[in-house]
Amino acid sequence: MSSHTYIHDLKQQVGQTVTLKGWVSNKREGKGIVFIVLRDGTGYCQCVITQDHSGENNLNIAQSTALETSVIIQGSIHADEKQIGGVEVQVNQIEIVGESIDYPIAKKEHGIEFLMDQRHLWLRSTRQWAIMKIRNTIIFSIHKYFQSQGFVQMDAPIFTGNACEGTSTLFETDFYGEPAYLSQSGQLYGEAMAMAMGKIYTFGPTFRAEKSKTRRHLSEFWMIEPEMAFYDIFQNMDTIEGMLQAVIKDVLAECSEELKTIGRDTSVLESSLKSFPRMTYDEAVSIIKGEKPVNGIYSIAMLEAELAQTEEKLKLIEAEIAEKEAKLATPGLKKGEINFMTAKIIQLKQEKSDVEEDLRNIPQWLNSARNFEYGNDFGGSDETVLTKLFDSPVMVYDWPHEVKAFYLKRNPEDPRFARGVDVLAPEGYGEIVGGGERETNVENLVEKIHEHELPMEAFEWYLDLRRYGSVPHSGFGLGLERLVTWICKLKHVRESIPFPRMYGRLKP
Ligand code: 4AD
Ligand code: MG
Repeated sequence: MSSHTYIHDLKQQVGQTVTLKGWVSNKREGKGIVFIVLRDGTGYCQCVITQDHSGENNLNIAQSTALETSVIIQGSIHADEKQIGGVEVQVNQIEIVGESIDYPIAKKEHGIEFLMDQRHLWLRSTRQWAIMKIRNTIIFSIHKYFQSQGFVQMDAPIFTGNACEGTSTLFETDFYGEPAYLSQSGQLYGEAMAMAMGKIYTFGPTFRAEKSKTRRHLSEFWMIEPEMAFYDIFQNMDTIEGMLQAVIKDVLAECSEELKTIGRDTSVLESSLKSFPRMTYDEAVSIIKGEKPVNGIYSIAMLEAELAQTEEKLKLIEAEIAEKEAKLATPGLKKGEINFMTAKIIQLKQEKSDVEEDLRNIPQWLNSARNFEYGNDFGGSDETVLTKLFDSPVMVYDWPHEVKAFYLKRNPEDPRFARGVDVLAPEGYGEIVGGGERETNVENLVEKIHEHELPMEAFEWYLDLRRYGSVPHSGFGLGLERLVTWICKLKHVRESIPFPRMYGRLKP
């Protein structure tokens, strides 16, 4: 058997006899019949093996398969709207390629640390598979967007001699006896390349030593960094919005099945196709502090209402758990009822722990709203408070220059502010993009490099970009995993990348 058919294409093969190659992702058995849900990376389909049709030998083989056994199946395709993918395979022949004994991930709830240790196998599960398909669509969509807009892709170096985003998150390594750092950002090199090519973008690995466990931070992540000559901060914001909306459109159009699989409510993705609100830092601060309403709603009132609702929700869930547990304790229940009730209780307990987490978080958000100090950078809680009031990403620009990177241009009309822009995703996700217009004045840059205590000699080449044909220019950095996490509405960034590297995790 050389060529074979992929599950994704089965709908066009109704009535044909085909060969499928894949893995047993689920199995049910009855007397003289086995149902295998086969997966091959392109999709899932149900395969039926019966004594009558497939014969004794094939039935025995099917019965002997376990979860994740790899198999080759030959059978005929029948239309069946009730089944996944709208088809069912009546099996003529099944052959085992590789057996799978005691597959460690069972069809039950596992703890997250266990699953992360089994990441090399966990990637085969339906939910993880769907997330990786969406990630792939996002990556391709980003390239499509920039290529169609005339940007040139460039690869920035990974070994670097200087910090770009502050010295506290550098990974130091040894470069032939010289200290070198793994790249925190390709931006400075992107600026050089933009002066050669006009509009460029990088798409590469980025490293940050973040010595704390949060749901937004990875130590190794993928960043997309466009840089555009002759763009000001407002054209930069247009580009950010254009790119994000192109990605969202592609995901909605091409990944509807995957979004359904992971249970993503897509209404916020759809409402993100209208233009993103743009506001200055000052405006954002008044919204966070509950001084300025958004569509008539004030942050503090919103959070207080949310707290009350969440407390109510917890009571309802607790009552339902108690009721289901009491039912489970009644004698004489059928096996099916016990299974159903047990599964329901597990699900309710998960909901309960989510609600309890909200109950721990909301008071912190309220605290951020009540006590935000003007002039500070936004923390995770501040971003959450702000974005909860919107149903699309928001762009915050013109930040107090003290809290932002050395390379940002000052607002010529009000030098207290640097022309940085952060894009914050709704639903509590927060920053997914950071960027801005670049400083072009050599004296200002030198002053900032001193202020940030950066080694001047490492930046001489960067200053050359201002000495020879300097032009206004802007760019930004999009964190791929932050975007995947928001689009998929994941709880933690670790599920957005195949093999996450973060504080406390280097394996598998
Ligand atoms: O805001 P950051 O630090 O900006 C820069 O690096 C600029 N040089 C970008 C530019 O203007 N060319 O990082 C940009 C984005 C963040 O908005 C976030 O999405 C992501 O990179 N990011 C991280 N993602 C995962 N884990 C981390 N530890 C991240 N740190 C930043
Ligand atoms: Mg940032």
